[in-house]
Amino acid sequence: MPRKILMTSALPYANGAIHLGHLVEYIQSDIWARFQKMRGHECWHVCADDTHGTPVMLRAENEGIAPEALIERVRAEHLRDFSGFFVDFDHYHSTHSPETRALAELFYERLTAAGLIEKRGIEQFYDPVKAMFLPDRFIKGECPKCAAADQYGDNCEVCGAAYAPTDLKNPRSAVTGAKPELRRSEHYFFRLSDPRCERFLRQYTRHEHGVLQPEAANKMREWLGEEGEHRLSDWDISRDAPYFGFEIPGAPGKFFYVWLDAPIGYMGSFKFLCEKKGLDFDSFFAPDSDAELYHFIGKDILYFHALFWPAELAHAGFRPPSGIFAHGFLTVDGAKMSKSRGTFITAQSYLKAGLNPEWLRYYFAGKLSGALEDIDLNLEDFCARVNSDLIGKYVNIASRAAGFLHARAGGRLPAAQADVPVFSAFRGAASRIASLYEAREYGKAMREIMTLADAANQYVDRVKPWELAKQEGKDAELLQACGNSLNFFRLLTVFLKPVLPAVASMAERFLNIAPLTWADAETFLPEGHVIHAYRHLMTRMEMKQLEALVEANRENLAETPAAPEKKAKGKEMDAKTMEKEAAAPVIGIEEFSRVDLRVARIAEASRVEGADKLLRLSLDVGEEKPRQVFAGIKSAYDPEALTGRLTVMVANLAPRKMKFGVSEGMVLAASDPEGKTGGIYLLAPDSGALPGMRVK
Ligand code: MSP
Ligand code: ZN
Repeated sequence: MPRKILMTSALPYANGAIHLGHLVEYIQSDIWARFQKMRGHECWHVCADDTHGTPVMLRAENEGIAPEALIERVRAEHLRDFSGFFVDFDHYHSTHSPETRALAELFYERLTAAGLIEKRGIEQFYDPVKAMFLPDRFIKGECPKCAAADQYGDNCEVCGAAYAPTDLKNPRSAVTGAKPELRRSEHYFFRLSDPRCERFLRQYTRHEHGVLQPEAANKMREWLGEEGEHRLSDWDISRDAPYFGFEIPGAPGKFFYVWLDAPIGYMGSFKFLCEKKGLDFDSFFAPDSDAELYHFIGKDILYFHALFWPAELAHAGFRPPSGIFAHGFLTVDGAKMSKSRGTFITAQSYLKAGLNPEWLRYYFAGKLSGALEDIDLNLEDFCARVNSDLIGKYVNIASRAAGFLHARAGGRLPAAQADVPVFSAFRGAASRIASLYEAREYGKAMREIMTLADAANQYVDRVKPWELAKQEGKDAELLQACGNSLNFFRLLTVFLKPVLPAVASMAERFLNIAPLTWADAETFLPEGHVIHAYRHLMTRMEMKQLEALVEANRENLAETPAAPEKKAKGKEMDAKTMEKEAAAPVIGIEEFSRVDLRVARIAEASRVEGADKLLRLSLDVGEEKPRQVFAGIKSAYDPEALTGRLTVMVANLAPRKMKFGVSEGMVLAASDPEGKTGGIYLLAPDSGALPGMRVK
């Protein structure tokens, strides 16, 4: 009986590149989708970019572009990366879409009608310079527990304490460096604490329902607490303008919080697909739907998917998910991915380095299980495993056999010898391997498959085709051995196809057969079938390729430009028109360190009466009084655009008396020597830097 399956992968944020950690998930889910499709089930795999929220808004602002332009560009990059790794969604949407907006409004309307939305005033940190409320992650200060400096508003990375942003000592806005103020504002809450939600969730997430993995079900019990404990608290689903997102109907200046519309984005994506393909959306989401609904996610976002999301669905008149499949996190060589070590590897850098995406798919498959445990990409193991399994055990079977068949029989195959014991091992394994794929126990599936490959190779070593080829009158035996080998290879290809779609399709071309499905594990290549010439299926991996990849990602970091600020008014620097200024004579570090460079926040910028080139800047460098600096940047900057920006100043320059007043320092800007491009480019630190920090 064909099943009806809708599956999703978590929506990547639209403000960053896909990296190998993300790919753990997308490769895991893609393998599952391909497997289900090979089994003949109706399976739709949808995803989208998660486009809303403060980080996207600020990043677009920093780049001087509209958020719509940013998310469009990032979506194209994400799609390029996914297709590069053969992650083949049936549809890849955007949460910034009419479908998602309409559904978000529908959820809101239905949850309101159910009495599950409540309006309440709360106090929150507000950045007076930027004129916006600050998300927890955009507030920094000293940890209230251990006093570590420079900690975020939600938890301390040094001692691990969790707290509210208002607990931080000396809080600062990470956007402008300003001291945040507490301000009151109306917010909308989803009443998760309502007895209806709690009752539903207790029932829904019980272990025996199989919706959650055992570890996740345990976590749930912890979150829910004992009956009567009422541990769940209401969830704030609104944010104040300025915010990039959907405005809440009937609530001007209030927006849906990004995590409200993100899971709804799964539905928005599928809605779009339904319209394109003429599918019946309701038959997948109605409360009595007979379709299965699965979400593949990382363990970090379990809370959103196992608590809020099913409760929202159930109370907005939709069916809840049939399963939530959480995976663990990727480490590289046993440690968290790190930019400075070069192990924060982007999908793009991997492909650019010429590494084969299916190597990674196979390696991840070999490590993945149905549990939440983290998985490690050990670079040496990666190289060794791919070469020994994929090249040594799988691809080689085909290359060895094909040559003889072409040379001696025009590529024509004899009937397979069904009674060779290796074939019965294959027959016995097919349903076990299928159950392992189904349970996302890919690691175990890969081991089963490699055991079969070992058996196939042992068969070849036993019959020794290369010796038969040298003996008179052994042609039939030789061809039989090669025919059997190619049948082994074909069966292995069936089993590996969800993991290695590109190699499988090359193998299908070489074997001259229609696309393999799971049912093909029951059959052989027919007698007299003619194969095409063997074409190279996969090359070996060299350790030095991986070393170069790590090196490239390490360099990446050094090359990463500081968050680009709004383009200056002057023309963009054109390398051709720019004359290189000769480097100044060498100085020692002591000499350099006599210059006291500080991060400065431009608290105020204004025009100076009677000066054509100067702007008057009031700079906060963490001192009691701001410094006054006159800067010759008027031709490139409007004072309005500078207010609130961070830059770098020379803080120990002798004060200089000017016609308009005393200048107490200097800000740093780049320009070409002759001013040909007309550009002046004020320096800016990466976000997170605070006024007064020393630059060295
Ligand atoms: N936008 C949210 C998801 C919204 S779903 C309605 C988000 N985005 S993300 O870009 O940060 O992560 C996307 C997925 O990749 C998540 O499932 C996350 O767990 C996963 N991973 C991100 N980094 C990862 C690793 N280092 N290792 C494994 N998975 C990781 O969360
Ligand atoms: Zn701390």
